[in-house]
Order: sequence, then structure tokens, then C-alpha cells
Amino acid sequence: MDEQAALHRSYWLETAPAGEPGPPPADGLTVDVAVVGGGIAGLSTAWELARDGHRVAVLEAGRLAAGVTGYTTAKLTAQHTLIYDKLRRTRDAEAARLYARSQYEAVRHAGEIAAELGIECEWEESTAYTFTRQAGRVDELRAEAEAAREAGLPAEFTTDTDLPFPVAGAVKVTDQAQFHPVKYLRALAEDIRRRGGTLHENTRVTGLTEGEPCVLTTEAGAEVKAGAVVVATHYPVFDRALLFTRLSPRRELVIAAPIEAEAAPHGMYITPDENTRSVRTAPYTDGKRLLVITGEHFTPGAGEDVEERFGRLVEWAGRHFGDLRLSHRWATQDNDSTDTVPLVGPLHQGSRHAYVATGFGGWGLSGGIMAGRLLADLIGGRTPEWSGLYDPRRLGSVVREGGEFLKNQAKVAKHFVGDRLTSMSGPGVDEIAPGDGAIVHVDGKRTAVYRDEAGALHAVSARCTHLGCLVAFNRAERAWECPCHGSRFDPDGAVVQGPALRPLEPREL
Ligand SMILES: Cc1cc2nc3c(=O)[nH]c(=O)nc-3n(C[C@H](O)[C@H](O)[C@H](O)COP(=O)(O)OP(=O)(O)OC[C@H]3O[C@@H](n4cnc5c(N)ncnc54)[C@H](O)[C@@H]3O)c2cc1C
Ligand code: FES
Repeated sequence: MDEQAALHRSYWLETAPAGEPGPPPADGLTVDVAVVGGGIAGLSTAWELARDGHRVAVLEAGRLAAGVTGYTTAKLTAQHTLIYDKLRRTRDAEAARLYARSQYEAVRHAGEIAAELGIECEWEESTAYTFTRQAGRVDELRAEAEAAREAGLPAEFTTDTDLPFPVAGAVKVTDQAQFHPVKYLRALAEDIRRRGGTLHENTRVTGLTEGEPCVLTTEAGAEVKAGAVVVATHYPVFDRALLFTRLSPRRELVIAAPIEAEAAPHGMYITPDENTRSVRTAPYTDGKRLLVITGEHFTPGAGEDVEERFGRLVEWAGRHFGDLRLSHRWATQDNDSTDTVPLVGPLHQGSRHAYVATGFGGWGLSGGIMAGRLLADLIGGRTPEWSGLYDPRRLGSVVREGGEFLKNQAKVAKHFVGDRLTSMSGPGVDEIAPGDGAIVHVDGKRTAVYRDEAGALHAVSARCTHLGCLVAFNRAERAWECPCHGSRFDPDGAVVQGPALRPLEPREL
């Protein structure tokens, strides 16, 4: 296998060129609904609203569909590894039914949109499998198959798959799909424009004042007024309800390699074994398919050796699919909510015109499409039967998932307090190799120092601008990452991913 595959290139973004960016908003722009964030959740919401006749503006910090959505695996399924048995145990059978129906309808809805708009997004009907190779886990999978079926999905237990190795058991769900997410969303964005909506790229929103109207402020100083605001920034950047206490970031790696079409599995697979392995293939050139394998999740900023994790994933792929030549590799992260159900609905208890969509737990493609429909319904005065299930204000979730909630907070507290108590003796600047970064102590201050390939040093404060935890360097991806809520910064401190809104402060060495 070729170990030199380019760093951090998403196949989806590479094969759907972006074109000219949408212009910044004019100061004073007034719309019915402003959507902050142009990933699948934001664009799906904007599209539903535009179709309903609302005047919408999408405000995106970078390029559309180039956040987490641009680095996903792009399976569209209501089968979310092992969720239905958990939902019926921790909530009830009705919650599992509502979850299944809302996610399944989202998958079918995306297919209808693609057909209606004639979107060429490599749509393929497929079957989803959650499998295990461990005999000791078979009962868990049998229970999941039963719960998924009871929840209304076309699900069954099987040991028959088209993977190149035997499995001990699998939950099989038919009538699911896979697609090219960026091609789909670029077409959706074009349709939003056709319907009178406006799309503003390279426009980071830094302020929100709720009211009638709500007022958004951009980093460049423009104000946008809107009757309603949707915060679809992945990790919510405006968070009066302290949702960050109920979300934990999980980073995961993806590798891709072309394989002969006849050797490509037809199904979409995932296993919770071995720190997760997910497999799908996508159309490719020269009669080949692109094998896309995901796994090796970890907490960003926890000081992991990410290169070693890539190595494990590559070794697993080679062991099962033969001698592969990697064409791409990338990584991205999603947020798990404490009770496993996404948070989609009003932004906080007193919120009348502000909404949020987050906490997709690794399943935000069907989740983002579901969120788009749900938020458009709420803004349009309709209340779908699953609105309570996803309502971020839901009571009892902290009580129900108290263990997860406390674990989250303990982890954050450990980094917030513990990292400050650790010894001030770190590496010296001279010990940092080209391409690497480390926290060094300069005049008694923890400073994040990166040495680029040419040997030049880049120094910024090591204190995350969200709530002040200490960042750590991810060498494989050349980024500073915060372990508390997953903010990411480039070597010069610019925000790559929130919830942080401000760059790391520059430091003199
Ligand atoms: C490795 C991996 C594989 C996955 N595979 C699948 C899969 O197969 N199927 C599935 O269903 N899900 C999958 N997921 C999950 C799914 O990709 C995500 O849940 C989903 O893409 C999240 O979409 P989003 O719109 O919430 O976030 P994003 O796509 O990140 O969109 C948020 C946008 O907000 C913008 N933004 C942030 N802050 C601001 C600001 N202040 N102002 C303006 N804009 C801002 C960002 O630039 C970004 O573009 C996977 C996740 C991972 C980690
Ligand atoms: S992301 Fe919250 S403190 Fe860094």
C-alpha cells in the first residue's frame, strides 16, 4: 500500500470543484431566515425554507459543504450502528419508532429531491449492515435487529454478507442509499439561489442578538437581520443553553483506495469492533470502485499519535482487501450527545426565533436532512411528531444519561484544571522537529509553537479561545486541537473548527 497518499484531501471535495465563492452579505441585509453554517444541516434547512417561500440567507465561515460534511463517508441510512435497542431501553419503543421513521424518511426524502432536481450525485440504493466478528457480541446484534424491526425498519439478523471475511453476525437493513454528498449539496445550493435565497461564503458569524428581528454580526462587521436564525455550525457557536456540556467531540480517520469493481462489496458496512471500522465503495474511473474505510476514533487534542492510528487503519484495509494503493486519506469529527439523540429545535429554553441542529453522533447525513425538514416545519408553525424526541430543551436527558454527562464534564475538568497543574517542564523550542509542534514555556506562559518544514517557528497562545483549555498538536494533520470541545486551529492560530470563534493569540518568541 502507498504510504505517501496525500495528507488530508477529501475525495468528495476534490471531485466536486467549488467555483467562485458567494459574496459577503451587504451590511443591513434583511431576510426571513438566516442560516449560520453551510453543511448538510444548514443547506438542507435553507433549501426546505426556500421551497416553502421564505427568503433565506446562508452565512458560511468557509466554503459550502467543506466542513465536516465534505469529509464524511456519505452513507445515507437510518441504521446507526447500534441505536434502536439502546433507545427502547433508555427511552421507550415509541422513541425508537420516531427515530427510525424520521431518519428513514430523511433518506427517502433526499432521493426524491435528487430525482426532482435531476441532481447527478452518484445516488445508489444500498443495504446497510452493522456486523461483528466476535461471537460474544452476537446477542447484542440480535437484540438490535429485533429493536430496529420493531421500530419499523426493514431489518433482520444475518450472517450472510459480501465482505471478504466471515462475520459472527450482522443487522441487515435494506432500502438505504449512498451518494456523493458535495455534488448533492452544491446542486441544492444552486436551487436555493434560483428560489431567491442568498449564499455568503467566507463569512464567519461572530455575534447573535435574539429579538424581533434577530441580528447577526459577521467577523467583517456586517449586520444581518432575520425573523429567525438557525445555528447549524456543527458545534453550536452561540450557546446560551450550555449545550456544550451535553456534547463530546469524536475525531475519526478515513482512507480511500481504488479496487477492482468485481472485488468491491455492494453493501455499506460498519462494526463497533476494533474501535469502529466502516466500509463502503463509490463509483470511480477505469471500471474501478473507490473503497472508503473509516475508523480509529479518538478525542481530538488528547495528544494521540494520529499517524499511528492511520497506520492501523491502513493495515486493517490491506489485511482484508489485499494490496491497495491509497489515493486519499483525511479525518474529521462529529459530536456525540449525552443521550445519543441529536439536538434539533429551539436554541434554548426562552428561545422564540433561534434554532439549532447539532449532536449527530456520526450520522449527520440522514440527521442533517431530517434536521432541515424538522426546523423548516417548526419555523413554518408545524410540529412533526418527532419534534419532542429531538428538542434540545428535552428534560430528563441529563438525568437519563447522567453517567455520560458526568463523564463529559470530568474529562473537560481534567483538561481545564489538570493540564494547568502539570509540570511547567516541557520540550525546548530547539527540540521541535520540522512539521511538528509542542507546548513550550516562554516567560512562564504556555505557548503553542510549530516549526514549519522550512524551519520557521510559529508561536501562538496555547489557551483555546472558547473556554480556555490547553490545545495539543496533531502532527498528522498539522493542527492545534482542543480536547475540551474539539475546537481546531491552524499552525498560525486561525480557527479551523468551532466552537471557538476567535484565533489563538499570537505570541512573540
Ligand atoms: C469520519 C466520519 C464519517 C462519517 N460518515 C457518515 C456517514 O456515512 N453517514 C452519516 O449519516 N453521517 C456520517 N458522519 C457524520 C456527518 O458527516 C456529520 O454529522 C455531518 O456532516 C454534520 O453536518 P453539519 O452540517 O452539522 O456540519 P458541517 O458540515 O461541519 O457544517 C457546519 C458549517 O458551519 C460552518 N461554521 C462554523 N462556525 C461558523 C460561524 N461562526 N459562522 C459561519 N459558519 C460557521 C462551518 O464552516 C461548516 O461548513 C460521519 C462523521 C465522521 C466524523
Ligand atoms: S473547545 Fe471549549 S475550551 Fe476549547
